[in-house]
This record gives sequence, structure tokens and C-alpha cells, in this order.
Amino acid sequence: MAQPIYTTHHGMVDILPDEVRKWQFLENLIREEAEKFNFEEIRTPIMEKTELIVRGLGQMTDIVSKEIFSFSRGEDNYVLRPELTAPVVRAFVENRLDQRGGSQKLYYIGPMFRAERPQKGRQRQFHQFGLEIMGSSDALADAEVIAFMIHIYHKIGITNTTLKLNSIGDPESRDQYKRALKAHLKPDLEKLSEVSKKRYENNPLRILDSKEEEDRPFIETAPVITEFLSEKSVKHYNKVKEYLGDLGITYEEDPYLVRGMDYYTETAFELISPDLGAQDALAGGGRYDLLVEEIGGLPTPAVGFAAGMERLFIACEELGIRLGSEKKVDVYIVTLGDAARKWGLTQLSKFREKGASATMDYMGRSMKAQMKDANRENARFAVIVGENELNTRQFTLRNMAASEENSLTLDAILQKITGHHT
Ligand code: HAM
Repeated sequence: MAQPIYTTHHGMVDILPDEVRKWQFLENLIREEAEKFNFEEIRTPIMEKTELIVRGLGQMTDIVSKEIFSFSRGEDNYVLRPELTAPVVRAFVENRLDQRGGSQKLYYIGPMFRAERPQKGRQRQFHQFGLEIMGSSDALADAEVIAFMIHIYHKIGITNTTLKLNSIGDPESRDQYKRALKAHLKPDLEKLSEVSKKRYENNPLRILDSKEEEDRPFIETAPVITEFLSEKSVKHYNKVKEYLGDLGITYEEDPYLVRGMDYYTETAFELISPDLGAQDALAGGGRYDLLVEEIGGLPTPAVGFAAGMERLFIACEELGIRLGSEKKVDVYIVTLGDAARKWGLTQLSKFREKGASATMDYMGRSMKAQMKDANRENARFAVIVGENELNTRQFTLRNMAASEENSLTLDAILQKITGHHT
């Protein structure tokens, strides 16, 4: 076959009809469960002003320094959103959502964009679902966020995950820790990987996240942030762990877990799966108590998480979990001749009005080919109509799975097919 002239961008994929049912299944599940947890959906634009993302995530983060898709139009600089925490905070501040009272419990589902090197589980356009709770500093909010995240994976049957937990404290403790970490690494700076050498000055905490073999020995002996936490941070962290215990959620403390954005404070967590290979994070999140103020709102503590939907599907595949049902249609009207075809066209709505899905041939095919098509479309029933049937008003109803045929009036057919629905 000839090569297509136009293709998608590197790292961006089409979600084709055969796959879309699993997406719809997951989206429906997320919506249903989010409602049960009393979260409300928020939808923000795909593009944001560059300043928001730079300020929100941090100039030195990998995302801002090398992964944003940015462009300008006139005076304005835009980025395609690489994540939704900063945009949701922007929307919260801009629309004064604090005035609705109480804590705001928001959820979202949608595409994000990061110009990373594509590989399995890493795309340039990918999808996240997530939650943000704005306005509560209570560890109970952290626990609910984590509980929701794990609940979704459990509902789907992905249970072999590890919850990694850490506290990165407040900015003062983090600065002290950064200094201690740099002092520890300094004598061996030359032995570190190139990436880590670069991070040493600008973003030393990210060195802890390095996957490079040569960095291992220095990371393993590094001081841990938990030793630098203030009393308040320790108290909060202990409360989170206590609540997780109450909920029966097991976790692994990982004092080297640092997240990719600068906005985090206190709790940080990731959900890891052994089924994902190198990109092993199914989801991640944490607290960001200073971000709302940072971008111009009133001081508002907040916590949230986001999960990669493509990675969830990879885990499902590895575990043999099938999401979503087979493609099917309730009725396929098979016609012979022009008059029957016209009749078919006008009767489709009768089935649809009663809640059944109905279709017919659009290609003027023979009856035999139409029957084949009905099979391919996974039709439950075929209604077969020719000149004879139109005259007698008795139509052939074929139950496709049972290969049974009955001659019935249209009313009886409607009754039989849509009766299954109610
Ligand atoms: P994040 O860890 O950058 O956090 O992304 C969350 C999840 O999105 C990751 O665990 C991963 O499953 C998925 N993901 C990230 N990048 C890609 C990619 N290039 N391709 C496929 N999947 C990807 C955040 O985005 C924060 N906003 C989470 C958060 C919400 N923190 C507080 N509230």
C-alpha cells in the first residue's frame, strides 16, 4: 500500500473506533466514581498563557525548560497545557471559586501536551484524569485524594500497585535539605551523570529522581528530606499516614521521592506499577499549599493527583483486563429493492425512538452482502424486507445469534426488540 502523505505528529496518536469504547468506559467510570466522592467536573481551555505555566510549575523544571509546546500570536505567548493543576488554580482564582464556600472538590479528564521523547507509556499528547481539592489543609483531604486514586485502579482490577509516599515539607525545610544534599554530592560532582551535573545548580532535588546507574551510589548515601522537616510538617505527614492506615491503604515510604513540579509542599506520592516498564508511574500528586497565592489568589491550601490514562490501559493489557463492551447494534434493516430501501430509511427512527440502535446498508449492496454486514456489525437482529413483506406487512425478524427467523408485524418486532431494553 502507498505510504500516507499526512501522518500524526511524533508522539501523538489517533484513538480509533475499535479502541474508543475502552476510553468511554474509563471516562464513565471516573465520572460515576467522582460523583460518589462528591467531586464536580471542571473544564479549562487546552491553551494557557505561558507565564502561568512557567510561574506555576517552575522555570527550572524539565517540563518548562524543555517540554512545553509554545507559540505566540501577536503579543501573547501560549502553551498547550502540560498538566492541569496550574490551570485549575488559575480558574479557581479568576472565577473566585472560593466564594462558593467550603472546599472546592474538582475533577477533570482531558488531553495534556509535553514534548518528551516518545516511548512506551510516554507520548507528546496524552490524557490524564485527576482531582484537586482547594481550601483544605487537613490531612483528611490528602487521604481522600489518595483513596480515590487507588479506588479507580481497584475498580478496574489493577491491584498489584505500590503507593510511594513522602513529605517534602515547607520551602524552608526544603532549602535546608537542598543545601545538605549539595554538600553531600559536591565531592563527587565529577562522577555524576551529565544530566545530574546540570541539575546540581538549578534543581538538585531532581538528582534523586535520576535513573542513571552512575548516580546510584551517591543517591543511596544521600541525606533524606524527612530529617529536615519542621514539626508542623512531621505532624501533617504522620496524620496522612494514620488516615491511610485507617483506610487500609498500604504504602511504601520513599524519602527520595521528589515530584517534577516546583509547586509541591508537604505530601508527595506516586502510584507505581510493575507492568509499565521504564515509565512506571501510573499516577502522582501531592499538596501545593502555596500555589494559589503564588499566582495571585488568597492563601489557599490544596492537594490533588493526576493519572495517565494511556498508562492505565498499558497495565490493563499486561494484566489481560478488557475494558468496555464489544461493538454491537440492535437492529440491521436488510432490504431488497428501492421501495424496501425507502421503507427501511423511514422506519429506522421507530427503533431509535424506543431506545434501540438501528442501522441499514448505505452502499446499495445485495441482500447476501447486507446479511454479512449485519454480522460484521454484530447486529442482535436483522429485519428483512422485500416487496412481498411490504405487501403483506409481515416482516422477517432474524435473531442473529440463534439463527432463528419469525414472520411478524412491525409492531410485534418493535415490541420484541425494545422489550429487551426496558
Ligand atoms: P505528573 O506526575 O507530571 O503530575 O503526571 C501525572 C501522570 O500523568 C503520570 O504519573 C503519568 O501516568 C502521566 N504522564 C505524565 N507525562 C506523560 C507522558 N508524556 N505520556 C503519558 N503519560 C504521562 C501532574 O501532572 C500533576 N499535575 C499531578 C497533580 C495534580 N499534582 C497535584 N495535583
